[in-house]
Amino acid sequence: MLVLGLETSCDETAASLVEDGQQVLSDTVATQIAIHQRYGGVVPELASRNHVVQVLPVVDQCLQSAGKSLADVELIAVTSGPGLLGALLVGVQFAKALALAMEVPVIGVNHLEGHLLAILLEDLAPVPPFLGLVVSGGHTSLYDVPEYGQYRLLGSTRDDAAGEAFDKVAKLLGLPYPGGAPIDSLAREGDPKAIRFPRPLSGPGVFEWSFSGLKTAVASRIRAHGVPQGQEMADLCASFQEAVADSLTRKLVAAARQLGRQQLVLCGGVAANSRLRALAQERAAYRDMSLFVPPPNRCTDNGAMIAAAGYRAYLRGVRADDTLNASAAWRL
Ligand code: KG4
Ligand code: ZN
Repeated sequence: MLVLGLETSCDETAASLVEDGQQVLSDTVATQIAIHQRYGGVVPELASRNHVVQVLPVVDQCLQSAGKSLADVELIAVTSGPGLLGALLVGVQFAKALALAMEVPVIGVNHLEGHLLAILLEDLAPVPPFLGLVVSGGHTSLYDVPEYGQYRLLGSTRDDAAGEAFDKVAKLLGLPYPGGAPIDSLAREGDPKAIRFPRPLSGPGVFEWSFSGLKTAVASRIRAHGVPQGQEMADLCASFQEAVADSLTRKLVAAARQLGRQQLVLCGGVAANSRLRALAQERAAYRDMSLFVPPPNRCTDNGAMIAAAGYRAYLRGVRADDTLNASAAWRL
Protein backbone atom coordinates (compact mmCIF):
# COMPACT_ATOMS: atom_id res chain seq x y z
CA MET A 1 0.00 0.00 0.00
CA LEU A 2 1.44 3.38 -1.06
CA VAL A 3 1.00 5.97 1.70
CA LEU A 4 1.50 9.71 1.33
CA GLY A 5 2.56 11.23 4.66
CA LEU A 6 2.11 14.97 5.19
CA GLU A 7 3.54 17.06 8.01
CA THR A 8 2.91 20.79 8.57
CA SER A 9 2.62 21.09 12.36
CA CYS A 10 5.47 23.54 12.87
CA ASP A 11 8.07 25.01 10.55
CA GLU A 12 8.73 22.20 8.08
CA THR A 13 6.48 21.44 5.14
CA ALA A 14 7.16 17.76 4.60
CA ALA A 15 5.80 14.99 2.38
CA SER A 16 6.90 11.42 1.93
CA LEU A 17 5.83 8.34 0.01
CA VAL A 18 6.17 5.13 1.97
CA GLU A 19 5.34 1.64 0.73
CA ASP A 20 3.64 -0.64 3.29
CA GLY A 21 4.65 1.59 6.18
CA GLN A 22 8.30 0.58 5.83
CA GLN A 23 9.98 1.38 2.53
CA VAL A 24 10.59 5.09 1.98
CA LEU A 25 10.38 5.93 -1.73
CA SER A 26 10.82 9.66 -1.30
CA ASP A 27 11.08 12.12 1.55
CA THR A 28 10.83 15.85 0.83
CA VAL A 29 11.26 18.54 3.47
CA ALA A 30 10.97 22.28 2.82
CA THR A 31 12.24 23.96 5.93
CA GLN A 32 11.27 27.49 6.92
CA ILE A 33 14.30 27.97 9.16
CA ALA A 34 15.60 30.89 7.08
CA ILE A 35 12.24 32.68 7.45
CA HIS A 36 12.01 32.35 11.24
CA GLN A 37 15.71 32.73 12.01
CA ARG A 38 15.65 36.55 12.15
CA TYR A 39 12.94 36.35 14.85
CA GLY A 40 14.84 33.75 16.90
CA GLY A 41 11.86 31.38 16.89
CA VAL A 42 8.87 30.21 14.89
CA VAL A 43 6.34 32.96 14.06
CA PRO A 44 3.03 31.05 13.77
CA GLU A 45 1.40 33.31 11.19
CA LEU A 46 4.46 33.19 8.92
CA ALA A 47 4.59 29.41 9.34
CA SER A 48 0.97 28.97 8.19
CA ARG A 49 1.43 31.25 5.19
CA ASN A 50 4.54 29.45 4.06
CA HIS A 51 2.92 26.04 4.39
CA VAL A 52 0.24 27.32 2.00
CA VAL A 53 2.95 28.33 -0.47
CA GLN A 54 5.00 25.14 -0.08
CA VAL A 55 2.55 22.29 0.33
CA LEU A 56 1.75 21.76 -3.35
CA PRO A 57 5.34 22.03 -4.67
CA VAL A 58 6.57 19.75 -1.86
CA VAL A 59 3.99 17.05 -2.68
CA ASP A 60 4.78 17.43 -6.40
CA GLN A 61 8.48 17.03 -5.83
CA CYS A 62 7.87 14.08 -3.52
CA LEU A 63 5.82 12.28 -6.20
CA GLN A 64 8.35 13.14 -8.89
CA SER A 65 11.38 11.86 -7.05
CA ALA A 66 9.58 8.57 -6.32
CA GLY A 67 8.50 8.30 -9.97
CA LYS A 68 4.87 8.09 -8.85
CA SER A 69 1.71 10.01 -9.65
CA LEU A 70 -1.18 11.02 -7.41
CA ALA A 71 -3.21 8.15 -8.83
CA ASP A 72 -0.77 5.69 -7.22
CA VAL A 73 -1.44 6.98 -3.69
CA GLU A 74 -3.70 4.62 -1.73
CA LEU A 75 -3.78 6.30 1.70
CA ILE A 76 -3.09 9.82 2.95
CA ALA A 77 -1.74 10.29 6.46
CA VAL A 78 -1.54 13.82 7.81
CA THR A 79 -0.40 15.32 11.11
CA SER A 80 -3.57 16.68 12.70
CA GLY A 81 -2.08 17.63 16.07
CA PRO A 82 -0.52 18.70 18.32
CA GLY A 83 1.18 21.81 16.93
CA LEU A 84 0.47 25.32 15.66
CA LEU A 85 -3.21 25.44 14.77
CA GLY A 86 -2.87 27.52 11.60
CA ALA A 87 0.05 25.40 10.41
CA LEU A 88 -1.77 22.12 11.09
CA LEU A 89 -4.88 23.36 9.28
CA VAL A 90 -2.96 23.78 6.03
CA GLY A 91 -1.91 20.13 5.98
CA VAL A 92 -5.25 18.80 7.20
CA GLN A 93 -7.34 20.76 4.69
CA PHE A 94 -4.97 19.87 1.87
CA ALA A 95 -5.04 16.18 2.81
CA LYS A 96 -8.83 16.10 3.09
CA ALA A 97 -9.29 17.83 -0.27
CA LEU A 98 -6.83 15.46 -1.92
CA ALA A 99 -8.44 12.40 -0.34
CA LEU A 100 -11.88 13.53 -1.51
CA ALA A 101 -10.68 14.19 -5.05
CA MET A 102 -8.67 10.97 -5.35
CA GLU A 103 -11.23 8.86 -3.46
CA VAL A 104 -8.71 7.43 -1.01
CA PRO A 105 -8.92 7.23 2.78
CA VAL A 106 -7.26 9.85 4.98
CA ILE A 107 -5.99 9.41 8.53
CA GLY A 108 -5.12 12.09 11.08
CA VAL A 109 -1.87 11.22 12.85
CA ASN A 110 -0.68 12.48 16.23
CA HIS A 111 2.70 14.16 15.68
CA LEU A 112 4.16 12.45 18.78
CA GLU A 113 3.05 9.03 17.57
CA GLY A 114 4.78 9.92 14.30
CA HIS A 115 8.04 10.59 16.15
CA LEU A 116 7.69 7.36 18.17
CA LEU A 117 7.03 5.25 15.06
CA ALA A 118 9.77 6.79 12.88
CA ILE A 119 11.83 3.82 14.08
CA LEU A 120 9.57 1.47 12.06
CA LEU A 121 11.23 2.82 8.92
CA GLU A 122 14.52 1.22 9.98
CA ASP A 123 15.59 -2.37 9.33
CA LEU A 124 15.81 -3.01 13.04
CA ALA A 125 12.68 -1.92 14.94
CA PRO A 126 11.55 -2.78 18.46
CA VAL A 127 8.73 -5.21 19.09
CA PRO A 128 6.47 -3.82 21.86
CA PRO A 129 6.55 -3.50 24.79
CA PHE A 130 9.08 -0.65 24.83
CA LEU A 131 9.63 2.75 26.41
CA GLY A 132 9.65 5.75 24.10
CA LEU A 133 11.08 9.15 24.90
CA VAL A 134 10.04 11.99 22.57
CA VAL A 135 12.41 14.94 22.83
CA SER A 136 11.66 17.78 20.47
CA GLY A 137 11.21 21.53 20.31
CA GLY A 138 7.74 21.28 21.82
CA HIS A 139 7.83 18.08 23.86
CA THR A 140 9.79 16.04 26.37
CA SER A 141 7.50 13.10 27.04
CA LEU A 142 8.13 9.56 28.18
CA TYR A 143 5.68 6.86 27.09
CA ASP A 144 5.23 3.23 27.90
CA VAL A 145 4.21 1.43 24.71
CA PRO A 146 2.74 -2.00 25.52
CA GLU A 147 1.35 -2.31 21.95
CA TYR A 148 1.50 -0.19 18.81
CA GLY A 149 -1.38 2.24 19.14
CA GLN A 150 -1.27 2.21 22.96
CA TYR A 151 0.68 4.96 24.65
CA ARG A 152 0.77 5.55 28.38
CA LEU A 153 2.33 8.85 29.38
CA LEU A 154 4.72 8.26 32.29
CA GLY A 155 6.00 11.81 32.61
CA SER A 156 7.01 14.92 30.76
CA THR A 157 8.66 18.27 31.31
CA ARG A 158 7.20 20.66 33.85
CA ASP A 159 8.35 23.71 31.91
CA ASP A 160 10.53 23.98 28.79
CA ALA A 161 10.94 21.11 26.34
CA ALA A 162 14.50 19.86 25.82
CA GLY A 163 14.67 21.36 22.32
CA GLU A 164 13.28 24.63 23.61
CA ALA A 165 16.14 24.70 26.14
CA PHE A 166 18.67 24.21 23.31
CA ASP A 167 16.99 26.97 21.30
CA LYS A 168 16.79 29.44 24.20
CA VAL A 169 20.37 28.83 25.33
CA ALA A 170 21.57 29.21 21.74
CA LYS A 171 19.77 32.54 21.56
CA LEU A 172 21.49 33.69 24.78
CA LEU A 173 24.82 32.69 23.23
CA GLY A 174 24.09 34.54 19.99
CA LEU A 175 23.91 31.30 17.97
CA PRO A 176 21.45 30.83 15.10
CA TYR A 177 17.94 29.35 15.43
CA PRO A 178 17.23 26.46 15.88
CA GLY A 179 19.98 26.10 18.42
CA GLY A 180 20.34 22.33 18.76
CA ALA A 181 22.68 21.65 15.86
CA PRO A 182 25.03 24.65 16.46
CA ILE A 183 25.38 23.76 20.17
CA ASP A 184 25.97 20.12 19.24
CA SER A 185 28.82 21.04 16.90
CA LEU A 186 30.47 23.62 19.21
CA ALA A 187 30.23 21.12 22.09
CA ARG A 188 32.45 18.65 20.20
CA GLU A 189 35.47 20.83 21.05
CA GLY A 190 34.36 21.50 24.63
CA ASP A 191 34.79 19.93 28.06
CA PRO A 192 31.45 18.63 29.37
CA LYS A 193 32.79 18.80 32.94
CA ALA A 194 33.87 22.44 32.72
CA ILE A 195 30.68 23.76 34.34
CA ARG A 196 28.38 21.74 36.59
CA PHE A 197 24.85 22.74 35.52
CA PRO A 198 21.82 21.66 37.59
CA ARG A 199 19.94 18.39 36.99
CA PRO A 200 16.61 19.11 38.70
CA LEU A 201 14.04 16.50 39.82
CA SER A 202 16.77 13.91 40.05
CA GLY A 203 15.16 11.88 42.85
CA PRO A 204 14.41 8.18 42.28
CA GLY A 205 11.13 7.31 40.57
CA VAL A 206 10.58 10.84 39.23
CA PHE A 207 10.06 10.63 35.48
CA GLU A 208 9.58 14.33 34.91
CA TRP A 209 11.99 16.99 33.74
CA SER A 210 12.58 20.68 34.21
CA PHE A 211 14.84 22.64 31.88
CA SER A 212 13.98 26.26 32.61
CA GLY A 213 16.44 26.40 35.55
CA LEU A 214 19.21 25.32 33.19
CA LYS A 215 18.42 28.19 30.85
CA THR A 216 18.41 30.57 33.84
CA ALA A 217 21.78 29.21 35.00
CA VAL A 218 23.25 29.91 31.56
CA ALA A 219 21.67 33.39 31.56
CA SER A 220 23.17 34.29 34.94
CA ARG A 221 26.63 33.13 33.83
CA ILE A 222 26.34 35.36 30.80
CA ARG A 223 25.21 38.29 32.96
CA ALA A 224 28.20 37.77 35.23
CA HIS A 225 30.91 36.97 32.67
CA GLY A 226 29.52 38.09 29.29
CA VAL A 227 29.00 35.84 26.27
CA PRO A 228 31.91 33.39 26.27
CA GLN A 229 34.32 33.18 23.34
CA GLY A 230 36.49 30.43 21.88
CA GLN A 231 37.23 27.52 24.20
CA GLU A 232 34.94 28.90 26.91
CA MET A 233 32.05 28.93 24.47
CA ALA A 234 32.74 25.31 23.53
CA ASP A 235 32.99 24.36 27.23
CA LEU A 236 29.70 26.02 28.05
CA CYS A 237 27.95 24.29 25.12
CA ALA A 238 29.40 20.91 26.10
CA SER A 239 28.46 21.37 29.78
CA PHE A 240 24.92 22.46 28.97
CA GLN A 241 24.46 19.60 26.51
CA GLU A 242 25.82 17.16 29.08
CA ALA A 243 23.26 18.29 31.67
CA VAL A 244 20.40 17.74 29.20
CA ALA A 245 21.70 14.39 27.94
CA ASP A 246 22.48 13.18 31.47
CA SER A 247 19.05 13.98 32.84
CA LEU A 248 17.18 12.56 29.81
CA THR A 249 19.08 9.27 29.66
CA ARG A 250 19.29 8.69 33.41
CA LYS A 251 15.51 8.86 33.79
CA LEU A 252 14.82 6.91 30.63
CA VAL A 253 16.91 3.98 31.83
CA ALA A 254 15.60 4.25 35.41
CA ALA A 255 12.01 4.13 34.15
CA ALA A 256 12.79 1.08 32.01
CA ARG A 257 14.29 -0.68 35.03
CA GLN A 258 11.28 0.16 37.17
CA LEU A 259 8.82 -1.09 34.56
CA GLY A 260 10.94 -4.05 33.48
CA ARG A 261 11.22 -2.84 29.87
CA GLN A 262 14.23 -4.02 27.85
CA GLN A 263 13.79 -1.86 24.76
CA LEU A 264 14.13 1.91 24.53
CA VAL A 265 13.20 4.28 21.72
CA LEU A 266 14.66 7.78 21.63
CA CYS A 267 13.12 10.12 19.07
CA GLY A 268 12.20 13.71 18.15
CA GLY A 269 14.49 16.50 16.92
CA VAL A 270 16.75 16.51 20.01
CA ALA A 271 17.46 12.79 19.46
CA ALA A 272 19.62 14.02 16.55
CA ASN A 273 22.05 15.24 19.25
CA SER A 274 25.33 13.34 19.08
CA ARG A 275 26.05 13.35 22.82
CA LEU A 276 22.51 12.32 23.74
CA ARG A 277 22.70 9.41 21.28
CA ALA A 278 26.07 8.27 22.60
CA LEU A 279 25.17 8.54 26.28
CA ALA A 280 21.82 6.78 25.76
CA GLN A 281 23.64 3.97 23.96
CA GLU A 282 26.22 3.69 26.73
CA ARG A 283 23.67 3.59 29.54
CA ALA A 284 21.33 1.20 27.73
CA ALA A 285 24.19 -1.19 27.00
CA TYR A 286 25.32 -1.04 30.63
CA ARG A 287 21.86 -2.31 31.67
CA ASP A 288 21.64 -4.84 28.82
CA MET A 289 18.85 -2.87 27.19
CA SER A 290 18.43 -2.33 23.45
CA LEU A 291 18.29 1.26 22.30
CA PHE A 292 16.58 2.27 19.06
CA VAL A 293 17.19 5.75 17.64
CA PRO A 294 16.16 6.84 14.14
CA PRO A 295 18.87 8.40 11.95
CA PRO A 296 19.14 12.20 12.50
CA ASN A 297 17.00 13.13 9.46
CA ARG A 298 14.15 10.98 10.81
CA CYS A 299 14.47 12.49 14.30
CA THR A 300 13.58 15.98 13.10
CA ASP A 301 10.15 16.54 11.54
CA ASN A 302 9.47 14.61 8.34
CA GLY A 303 6.59 13.12 6.36
CA ALA A 304 7.88 9.54 6.41
CA MET A 305 7.23 9.11 10.13
CA ILE A 306 3.66 10.33 9.61
CA ALA A 307 3.17 7.83 6.78
CA ALA A 308 4.55 5.04 8.98
CA ALA A 309 2.22 5.89 11.87
CA GLY A 310 -0.74 6.40 9.52
CA TYR A 311 -0.22 3.01 7.93
CA ARG A 312 -0.16 1.32 11.35
CA ALA A 313 -3.35 3.12 12.34
CA TYR A 314 -4.94 2.04 9.05
CA LEU A 315 -4.09 -1.59 9.82
CA ARG A 316 -5.78 -1.17 13.22
CA GLY A 317 -8.92 -0.06 11.39
CA VAL A 318 -8.62 3.66 12.08
CA ARG A 319 -10.30 5.86 9.43
CA ALA A 320 -11.02 9.57 9.48
CA ASP A 321 -14.23 11.01 8.09
CA ASP A 322 -14.89 14.51 6.81
CA THR A 323 -15.04 15.85 10.37
CA LEU A 324 -11.25 15.39 10.62
CA ASN A 325 -9.86 18.63 11.99
CA ALA A 326 -6.65 20.09 13.34
CA SER A 327 -6.23 19.81 17.09
CA ALA A 328 -3.49 22.05 18.48
CA ALA A 329 -3.35 20.40 21.93
CA TRP A 330 -4.08 16.74 21.07
CA ARG A 331 -2.60 14.60 23.85
CA LEU A 332 -1.23 11.22 22.90
O1 KG4 B 1 11.05 17.27 16.19
P1 KG4 B 1 11.46 18.60 15.72
O2 KG4 B 1 12.03 18.73 14.34
O3 KG4 B 1 10.24 19.60 15.78
C1 KG4 B 1 9.34 19.56 16.83
O4 KG4 B 1 8.42 18.69 16.80
O5 KG4 B 1 9.55 20.37 17.76
O6 KG4 B 1 12.49 19.17 16.80
C2 KG4 B 1 13.09 20.42 16.65
C3 KG4 B 1 14.01 20.64 17.84
C4 KG4 B 1 14.60 22.05 17.91
O7 KG4 B 1 14.44 22.54 19.21
C5 KG4 B 1 16.07 21.83 17.60
O8 KG4 B 1 16.95 22.76 18.23
C6 KG4 B 1 16.30 20.43 18.12
O9 KG4 B 1 15.13 19.73 17.76
N1 KG4 B 1 17.48 19.79 17.52
C7 KG4 B 1 18.57 19.43 18.22
C8 KG4 B 1 19.51 18.94 17.28
N2 KG4 B 1 18.94 18.98 16.04
C9 KG4 B 1 17.69 19.51 16.21
N3 KG4 B 1 18.83 19.52 19.54
C10 KG4 B 1 20.03 19.10 19.96
N4 KG4 B 1 21.00 18.62 19.13
C11 KG4 B 1 20.78 18.51 17.80
N5 KG4 B 1 21.75 18.05 16.99
ZN1 ZN C 1 8.43 17.10 15.84
